[in-house]
Amino acid sequence: MKTLLLAQKDGIARAVELLAEGVPVALPTETVYGLAAHALDPVACARIFEAKERPLSDPLIVHIPSLDWLPRIAFPSALALALAERFWPGPLTLVVPRRAAIPDIVTAGQETVAVRMSGHPVFQEVVQAFGQPLAAPSANRFGRISPTTAAHVLSELGGRIPLVLDGGSCAHGIESTIVSVLENHLRILRQGPVTAEDLSAFAPVSYGPAGVLAPGGMASHYAPRTPLVIDAVPAPRGPRTGLLAWSAGGEGFAVTEFLSRSGDLREAAANLYGAMRRLDEARLDVILAEPVPEIGIGAAIMERLRKAAAR
Ligand code: TXA
Ligand code: MG
Repeated sequence: MKTLLLAQKDGIARAVELLAEGVPVALPTETVYGLAAHALDPVACARIFEAKERPLSDPLIVHIPSLDWLPRIAFPSALALALAERFWPGPLTLVVPRRAAIPDIVTAGQETVAVRMSGHPVFQEVVQAFGQPLAAPSANRFGRISPTTAAHVLSELGGRIPLVLDGGSCAHGIESTIVSVLENHLRILRQGPVTAEDLSAFAPVSYGPAGVLAPGGMASHYAPRTPLVIDAVPAPRGPRTGLLAWSAGGEGFAVTEFLSRSGDLREAAANLYGAMRRLDEARLDVILAEPVPEIGIGAAIMERLRKAAAR
């Protein structure tokens, strides 16, 4: 299969056509690129799992065109509705009790569904023109680094899907925060751009996964092929050592990628996956990653680095 790369202007109508045929297409969101298909069509969703080589035990996030879709596919509590009103459209995913309208393949048979509303203008235009919710995991092969540009999607899924809509680089660069909405209590299942501090204004917050399938599945995830080691005082371990630097550089590395030279954690998040991908392509023996401060979105960056390091 040939994969077309189209800009917004020509791409939106074609994306909607393909979605209506039950074919998945890659779309930009404000977090990372997603591989989207009609969420209420189980066969279309099955094609997502196929293209990504994703195990069927790993459920998908449903992206809705507008807020009124939330009660059509789920049973949101007052707390869930308050969070949706505050943070949507945006990088927050709510795990709430599902309605029967959602196919089992989307939830991996669980009684909850993960829902979000993307704020990316291209994604919004497509989902609103299509008029149905879209199931969309990150547009990478299973277990690999999430794509933050259209070129990344091509290198992950080129030849496996018909269309990538190019919406430029993703603003946040890491995946949405996932929060399980419990009775008067929130459990963060995956850290992301919306922080625990942001959420704690609504209800007490704890960290998760308990009782549900862990997002990002296993301990190892978001992983480059080259071994990655977190090292607070990195020094070259041979001539083919790469450095994923926080903001200041080390000496003597074959390749150094900076997350943010100005020490800005939001910029670091936006650069993280592209930098990991470039290091992974540099034929290194090992990548040393400097830890970043675990404040604000820094906690989500460190969660990704720990998963990339676990193998
Ligand atoms: O930013 C994002 O969330 C991106 C963009 C494309 O929207 N999507 C994304 O999807 O990161 P994905 O599939 O790569 O990660 C979603 C995670 C999965 O690891 C899955 O285990 C978890 O969400 N998940 C989905 N449904 C769930 C549920 N009902 N309960 C708990 N976890 C769930
Ligand atoms: Mg993913």
